[in-house]
Amino acid sequence: MVEAGPVEREEELEQILALQRANLPGQLSGEEIAADGFVTVEHTLDLLKRMHAMVPSIVAREGASVVGYALVMPVECRSLIPVLEPMFQRLDSLGMSRQRFYVMGQICVGKPWRGKGVFDLLYQAHRRHLRGTFDWSVTEVATRNTRSMRAHERVGFTVIDRYRDATDDWVLLRWDWSEPPRR
Ligand SMILES: CC(C)(COP(=O)(O)OP(=O)(O)OC[C@H]1O[C@@H](n2cnc3c(N)ncnc32)[C@H](O)[C@@H]1OP(=O)(O)O)[C@@H](O)C(=O)NCCC(=O)NCCS
Repeated sequence: MVEAGPVEREEELEQILALQRANLPGQLSGEEIAADGFVTVEHTLDLLKRMHAMVPSIVAREGASVVGYALVMPVECRSLIPVLEPMFQRLDSLGMSRQRFYVMGQICVGKPWRGKGVFDLLYQAHRRHLRGTFDWSVTEVATRNTRSMRAHERVGFTVIDRYRDATDDWVLLRWDWSEPPRR
């Protein structure tokens, strides 16, 4: 049985990094990228530890194995991940940076567990654990990651902006928790 909740042990941060490494574009074939998506930003253990000290991320576990994760990045992380600076600048220009929100920094589900509701479990746990502190969650998805786009819109994210950087075309998505959950 898979359950989702906040990271509890440092070993889980290491498992997040292993799952992340396996889903970077360089590790995947063109067919896998087109069918199942990919992750872009690569974190270090030190960075994950610093994020964890602010707010624990959410992992999906089967026994002692992390089978999926969805990272929590409060805005205080802004200076730690320079590659996300353009996204924060968009949020500033949309007048959103003064509201109570955090960035869902990256989501990934291990290949054998895809299509089994783990994505939804991760986001249900986000809403459950973070709703007292934040009003909404924001994330960015590369438009060519059609699987991720579809899944985010299904749980309740809506597009608030679009832009292009050196690596991809992106959409900025917001999940407003004043709306009832979709599932
Ligand atoms: C993206 C990811 C997190 C989604 O988790 P998942 O368990 O695969 O998601 P689900 O199966 O619950 O939902 C995927 C949805 O996309 C649909 N889908 C599947 N393949 C698709 C494709 N190639 N294009 C468009 N939609 C697709 C599914 O039918 C499903 O929609 P539905 O519920 O309406 O049927 C997971 O596939 C993953 O980790 N991929 C690699 C890393 C990644 O891309 N991370 C996201 C970075 S933004």
